[in-house]
Amino acid sequence: MTANECNIMNPEVQKQVSKYVKMYSRKGAVAYVHSFGCQLNVSDGEKIKGILASLEFDFTDDYKNADLILLNTCAVRESAEDTVYGTLGNIKKYKKENPGVILILCGCMAQEPKTIEKIKKHYPFVDILFGTSALSQLPKLLLEHYEGKKLAFDTKEYKEEFGASYQIRESSFKASVPIMFGCNNFCTYCIVPYVRGRERSRNAEVIIQEVKELVKNGYKEIMLLGQNVNSYGNDLPDGMSFSELLRELNKIEGDFWIRFMSSHPKDAGKDLLDAILECDKVGKHLHLPVQCGSNSVLKRMNRNYTAEKYKEIVNYLRERSEGFALSSDIMVGFPNETEEEFEDTLKLVEEVKFDNIFTFIYSKRSGTKAAEMEDITTDAEKRIRMDRLLKLQRNVATENYKRFIGTVVRVLVEGESKQGEGWLFGKSSAYTIVEFKGDKSFIGTFVDVKITDARNWAVSGELV
Ligand code: SAH
Ligand code: SF4
Ligand code: F3S
Repeated sequence: MTANECNIMNPEVQKQVSKYVKMYSRKGAVAYVHSFGCQLNVSDGEKIKGILASLEFDFTDDYKNADLILLNTCAVRESAEDTVYGTLGNIKKYKKENPGVILILCGCMAQEPKTIEKIKKHYPFVDILFGTSALSQLPKLLLEHYEGKKLAFDTKEYKEEFGASYQIRESSFKASVPIMFGCNNFCTYCIVPYVRGRERSRNAEVIIQEVKELVKNGYKEIMLLGQNVNSYGNDLPDGMSFSELLRELNKIEGDFWIRFMSSHPKDAGKDLLDAILECDKVGKHLHLPVQCGSNSVLKRMNRNYTAEKYKEIVNYLRERSEGFALSSDIMVGFPNETEEEFEDTLKLVEEVKFDNIFTFIYSKRSGTKAAEMEDITTDAEKRIRMDRLLKLQRNVATENYKRFIGTVVRVLVEGESKQGEGWLFGKSSAYTIVEFKGDKSFIGTFVDVKITDARNWAVSGELV
């Protein structure tokens, strides 16, 4: 147990908070917890739920039933922040009618200094605010709130890791395991290093033990999380590298898949690529955000690789494993992106043949270097470029997914598909969405599916 976990379970704070919770909640105390943003944030949200459960809260999916509403926010793009402010606006009325309800804002937005000012000025009905590394301080903040503090907040950086033992996981067969927190890369457009702090790797033994435990409890997919998992261990004195960690986890007995995200091309060395290719439990897929195909833009983004270096990585994998599955993040409209620079991105997308890309229009984040850069490209032009990129990718993916037709793939079944009555969906080792007809009892298990059809975002087939 780490120091922070002890802090959480400080029996005195615990007792006092639980007493207040009982006193002020209308029925049994019920909390609504919503996480925006990436999987790391979702994982934090699951830990926050664990803390609330230890304070005797139950959970609801509808904030209108809740005694406590917690929004775990994302700051990566302006649209993400707008969604949060919109949600706060919706909650305002409910909060006015139910003044005893506790409203909490946490996560990446809460870590930005400008947010606290904005909350004080425009959203004074927020009761508690805490930053990305202050999860463990929630009981203390609740106590301050119950004792009458107007806005209880804590945005200090806590170095101690907050234990996974509290996590209440949504899924009984898919689990995410953060292996590191923070980011040192300072891509010029990105807010993450400012709101998540510097890289901190978790101890390898602790991670391995956690994965063993999950596998023993029947989890079939372990997703290792970090902003740049390839630099795992760099901050530990005698730390394992990420590829060594993958090989250690691959030794754990059991029927399960290991996945990870995200990787940075500048650190995707042969040791990592070989580990992916050689470890039988590691999914045969790499999510490798390229951002764009232009070397001049990559330089302005401070990405520290070139389009040629990126293609070398792709070739290395595909020479050893034909049709190796890749996905990526691509940004359109970085400040002053020219038509030629954008066309370099189209060329790269055409050449690499990603199965899937996540696309974003550049969004200015105050405090980052790119926010100071001149930008004469209009929003309308950026949207047109985005449409061109999406159209190209649809064609690429339609062709690409045909390579699976006629093959039998192993699928971890995730749920019912919207395709129609009796249809299920899951993902293959290559992280392809696979749809097929089958009984709901297959959900959470591995099945074999023979692929008969391909579309631009998924394949479908029949159970073998
Ligand atoms: N650490 C991960 C990505 C985290 S953010 C990595 O480096 O791959 C996820 C994606 O959001 C990024 O890959 C990028 O494409 C996008 N993104 C980040 N900042 C952005 C911004 N200011 N505007 C638009 N998209 C952004
Ligand atoms: Fe942001 Fe770059 Fe770090 Fe990813 S690697 S989180 S894009 S700064
Ligand atoms: Fe968003 Fe924070 Fe993740 S900014 S993308 S929730 S690390």
